[in-house]
Amino acid sequence: MAIEAFHHSQALRPGPSGDPYQGHRTFRTLSGIPIKETYTPDDLPPQHLIGSPGQYPFTRGIHTTMYRGRYWTMRQFAGFGTAKETNARFRYLLEQGQTGLSVAFDMPTLMGYDSDDPHSLGEVGREGVAIDHVGDMERLFQDIPLDKVSTSMTINGPAPIIWAMYLVAAERQGVDWTQLRGTLQADILKEYIAQKEWIFPPKPSMRLIVDMMAYATRYVPQWNSISISGYHIREAGSTAAQELAFTLADGFAYVEAGIKAGLDVDAFAPRLSFFFNAHIDFFEEIAKFRAARRIWARHMKEIYGAKNPKSWMMRFHTQTAGCSLTAQQPENNIVRTAYEALAAVLGGTQSLHTNSMDEVLSLPTEKAVKIALRTQQILAYETGVANTVDPLAGSYFVEALTTQMEEQAEEYFARIEEQGGVLECIENGYLQREIADAAYRYQKELENHEQILVGVNAFVEPPNEESIPLLRIDPAVEKDQVESLATWRKNRQDSAVKQALQALQETCLTPDGEIMPHIIEAVRQGATEGEIVAVMKAVFGTWRERPVF
Ligand code: 3HC
Repeated sequence: MAIEAFHHSQALRPGPSGDPYQGHRTFRTLSGIPIKETYTPDDLPPQHLIGSPGQYPFTRGIHTTMYRGRYWTMRQFAGFGTAKETNARFRYLLEQGQTGLSVAFDMPTLMGYDSDDPHSLGEVGREGVAIDHVGDMERLFQDIPLDKVSTSMTINGPAPIIWAMYLVAAERQGVDWTQLRGTLQADILKEYIAQKEWIFPPKPSMRLIVDMMAYATRYVPQWNSISISGYHIREAGSTAAQELAFTLADGFAYVEAGIKAGLDVDAFAPRLSFFFNAHIDFFEEIAKFRAARRIWARHMKEIYGAKNPKSWMMRFHTQTAGCSLTAQQPENNIVRTAYEALAAVLGGTQSLHTNSMDEVLSLPTEKAVKIALRTQQILAYETGVANTVDPLAGSYFVEALTTQMEEQAEEYFARIEEQGGVLECIENGYLQREIADAAYRYQKELENHEQILVGVNAFVEPPNEESIPLLRIDPAVEKDQVESLATWRKNRQDSAVKQALQALQETCLTPDGEIMPHIIEAVRQGATEGEIVAVMKAVFGTWRERPVF
């Protein structure tokens, strides 16, 4: 989301004193935490809370050697057009040195509609890749051996269906599911809270998530069944502390759902993963990541009784902040992304996406995404920051801010608990309201120059017409995809599809029925995502959010 806060005429130049703040400078983090002029040894927490890398509570990082043992995964989010176009972009990124894949799906796929559904008109292949059935999934990974890559898939409502397509595509490549590494985002709670891309109501959605966790634990043991996301909560306008607190609260809700369903916490917790935003307030972001590890470790060990240290370790992916990018002077976004990537690495991320300078205006061009990837490679191989573990440990300021982040998160946990938990706070709109209030505060601070956005409310230039080249998606993509879907439907065994969908419906109607195997069989028989979603919607229904003002 670009900050289109000002039109050129509105953006005031620095005042007579040349002060961009126009006298409104405050010494607070982006989220409002007051910052002292100087920090001293008195601001340090007890040593055991800082601890050692690879040791509980993992404040300094989850591995003893961190990036000396293995660099973070360079994993650029990518997808547009049909499976053919995105396959080409994946292979380009791998050739440029990317070390993990991350699939961006188009809106119809994200919302559970086939490309020929009336709801899909004009959206096919626009914001991500169009995937309708397992044939598209096989084409997406053509010439990419699935036992040699780790693949993240940003899919939520239809997550079990897209995952089933990936599993069947792997099966058809001859890859054993025990060799598959990857991650499903599948974090439906943050959809109700922030991104709004849900399909089913909360309760059946939680049932599907537990079904996937159980299936992964049994058949796809290296698969991360969920990526509990703070990214979209932050992009919706939350503060860093809210992003931290609401994301972890969602994580606790998934742990409780797994335990309630009879799963052993140490059976599934090691494969829970997280996904955070790296925003522009450098030290606040580093403190957020370090506090997140300490909070998760403590709650998993002391509250949920996890015994396996891997259950205590918070592993996370980071994407630099899309909402920090500006449409004005877009090349400045290369610099913002570099600082945000540095914060993610000094914060101990396991995997990283760096935004392209043009992502504020469109999906990235090859040139822009290459600069974004090179930003990571320069960070890894030139700056030296990967040569020692958690270099900021013991910093009076960073440790103090880490503790403050942790305290703010624990205050939010108490407020959420008082209201009956995360699902209650979604239903009553508390979380959504907190985010909306924070977004409003930030906008006001921009307008009165407490916050500076270079090129937007300071150091403004006249709009530059020849700005940067943008990626245009050829509208013919939609026609091609719809035609290929019609051919797909013609060539499959309709009776086998019908039978598989019938069995799926019966399982959805059975309260403790195991759903994944039936979705996989329906996918194997050639059922489309839209057909499977329609069967599940008929049983589970849909959900409407209570508006929050
Ligand atoms: N010492 C010992 N072992 C080490 C090590 C070290 N220093 N460093 C890494 N390793 C090991 C790890 O333990 C792991 O082995 P294991 O699986 O046997 O434990 C292996 O090396 C690979 O390391 P990671 O698992 O840490 O790295 P991955 O990149 O494979 O996984 C992850 C990272 C966070 C766990 C995983 O969940 C992931 O890749 N998530 C990505 C999610 C993602 O890309 N999301 C993007 C969404 S885009 C979006 O939603 C925004 C859009 O909507 C706008």
